[in-house]
Amino acid sequence: MRWKLQLVLFAIIQVVRSQNEEDAGSDAEVETEVESEVESGQFFSHLYKSNLQQLVKMKNDSMDPCDDFYAHACGNFDQAKEENPDDFLPPYLYNKQDRMNFFAAEVGNFETIPGRLISQLYGECRKRGERNVFTPSRVATHWERMLAEIPFLARHRDVLSAWPFLSHQWERRSLNGQLNWIVLSAQLLAHGVPTLLDIYFAMDTIYVSPMDELPCPSLADFQSSLSDVWEGRHHQVPRIISHEMRVLCRAMRGELPLVRSLSRHAKATSSRPSEDQLLLDENTMDYFQQYFAALNFTEERLVGARKFLLDVEKITQGWEVLRQTEPRIVYNYVMWQAREQLRYPDCYRVSEEFERLLHAEYWQWHVLRPQLSREVALASYQLHTTLFQKLRRSKLSRRDWFGHLWPASVEKKELQVARILQNHAENYLNITELNEHYGGLGFVKHSFYGNLLILRRAQLRHSFVSPYVDEEDVNQPAYFLRHFLHFVLLSLHRPTYHYYATQGLQLWRESRLLLDTDGHFAAMDCLEMQSLQHYDAKLAPIYRPLGSHEIGEIFQFYRSFQYSLRDYNFWLQGERFAFAETFVLQYFGLDPQRVLFYAVAQQLCNRRTEIFAAQLNRGYMNLPEFQEAFKCGAEKAMNPPSRCMINMCEKPLT
Ligand SMILES: *[C@@H]1O[C@H](CO)[C@@H](O)[C@H](O)[C@H]1NC(C)=O
Ligand SMILES: *[C@@H]1O[C@H](CO)[C@@H](O)[C@H](O)[C@H]1NC(C)=O
Ligand SMILES: *[C@@H]1O[C@H](CO)[C@@H](O)[C@H](O)[C@H]1NC(C)=O
Repeated sequence: MRWKLQLVLFAIIQVVRSQNEEDAGSDAEVETEVESEVESGQFFSHLYKSNLQQLVKMKNDSMDPCDDFYAHACGNFDQAKEENPDDFLPPYLYNKQDRMNFFAAEVGNFETIPGRLISQLYGECRKRGERNVFTPSRVATHWERMLAEIPFLARHRDVLSAWPFLSHQWERRSLNGQLNWIVLSAQLLAHGVPTLLDIYFAMDTIYVSPMDELPCPSLADFQSSLSDVWEGRHHQVPRIISHEMRVLCRAMRGELPLVRSLSRHAKATSSRPSEDQLLLDENTMDYFQQYFAALNFTEERLVGARKFLLDVEKITQGWEVLRQTEPRIVYNYVMWQAREQLRYPDCYRVSEEFERLLHAEYWQWHVLRPQLSREVALASYQLHTTLFQKLRRSKLSRRDWFGHLWPASVEKKELQVARILQNHAENYLNITELNEHYGGLGFVKHSFYGNLLILRRAQLRHSFVSPYVDEEDVNQPAYFLRHFLHFVLLSLHRPTYHYYATQGLQLWRESRLLLDTDGHFAAMDCLEMQSLQHYDAKLAPIYRPLGSHEIGEIFQFYRSFQYSLRDYNFWLQGERFAFAETFVLQYFGLDPQRVLFYAVAQQLCNRRTEIFAAQLNRGYMNLPEFQEAFKCGAEKAMNPPSRCMINMCEKPLT
């Protein structure tokens, strides 16, 4: 396994080296080079190189790292940005950008059923702005597309072309019989567009909750969001309709005094609903019926499911307002929300919204195979996180004392990240199951909004039959599966140290494995003392006094950085890695001992400097590892006579 890894690294070095030689060639050569690079997949190594170049460019070597490391590391940030404004990204966004690039480059090559659905949807999303073959003179608007592509809107297309409705329109055309806000809102919700209520699922469980935050912009924003539909209408119309909608949403949010008296009235006359009991009026009954019919669950499952009502009081109050409001106004408001939610300005969102499907595609490895094999990637990830997993295992088993009994077998397996991930993926990203569930959805060609809603509905249906998985929970394999896939994409794009400076560091910070109350209080005292002794607004501004929250952050940062650095050094200890990394870094005038300090610092450049500069400088100056790497003189600000935070926490991992 190690041997294969070495090959991968060696290939990268070769590319970096040959590219540097090419740089000396003519522009024409460079251009053809770029083309063939993209073709051969060496495109990734190009990013690898530019990442290192940017790192070097951003620091200002005329500033001494031992005076103010943050200022030194970020000293040329603005200049580097100016030189390369097009592909310049703040460093902390790299990883996401890499994932986006990879997705956009490969989405056309997806092979699984779920993957191809995403692929089609993304393609259609991108094409929205293009001219239609039949009406080349103009591009269909967002609203026209919605009316054409969403079946339950297309049914009322003629009437809806006059939306939003004033009361005289509504009456003259007797729209009450045709358009129904309950049906509309329930249909939308069943297709993943919540407007008045939210209902979601876990396996055989139904949650009903009020909208997290009912949108309620200002009058001006309401009006401008509808600018495309005012054409040819009386100039008073926008104001009237926006005003009506705003009164409705404010009332539902409980911001109008009127409502409070209303609901008090309701409470006084009817018996107050208990915590988990919803007063089912005709509207809500109708709503649920419409909603569940649209989702078409089997009756058994529906009856047998557990049901949870969240924040009943808020729901009751909102629906009381709906009862008191003209149906026309509610209809206008629901439709307005749908239009806003479906604007979908960023097509990359497709990959985030349907991440499980995307990851199922990635896990099948069709698009990754040309870059590296799954076995190598898993082995590599296991090696990258070895120390982390070791400590995590020991902490988890220590929990036994508090009653969390982990069977010994689980505990042993814990370190087998590769195996755990594999087991989890086979379940969670079970391609057979996903194919069954997402096969035959009946996507329509050239119909982004229609297909988006079809896929959202399928996802809702799926969530009702699959166990709930919390991907944010650092004790769950799902968390590591996602990080593993991010790791793979990252390692295709960036030099290895970058993993430890970003994802690796984050892993430690988020895990809370390093929480240590005694250490925290000791650090607090010591850092305050340090400020008191050394702060000088002119001569030593980096010792400025800190808030207690800041001290907490510094402590957390210090420890996480230290552990991440250890991880990196552990990885380097494989002699072959050290050789490769040293070789690449040397080319750019860097060395493995220092590089992580820069990589981490530069993620914080140009972001709330006042806060991050303190976190970084005070963290680094107290790290023995920093002094070892930068060998600051005794009189330097970054080398305080006595350091905080050392000796306070447990011994290094061995
Ligand atoms: C780099 O630092 C030196 C010394 O502080 C300063 O004079 C110079 O302007 C800096 N360069 C840039 C590009 O900011
Ligand atoms: C609803 O589900 C049943 C089977 O559960 C299926 O036969 C029927 O076609 C579905 N109806 C719709 C409209 O999807
Ligand atoms: C994957 O799903 C299929 C169909 O639902 C099922 O028969 C199979 O046991 C599943 N495999 C795993 C590993 O869960």
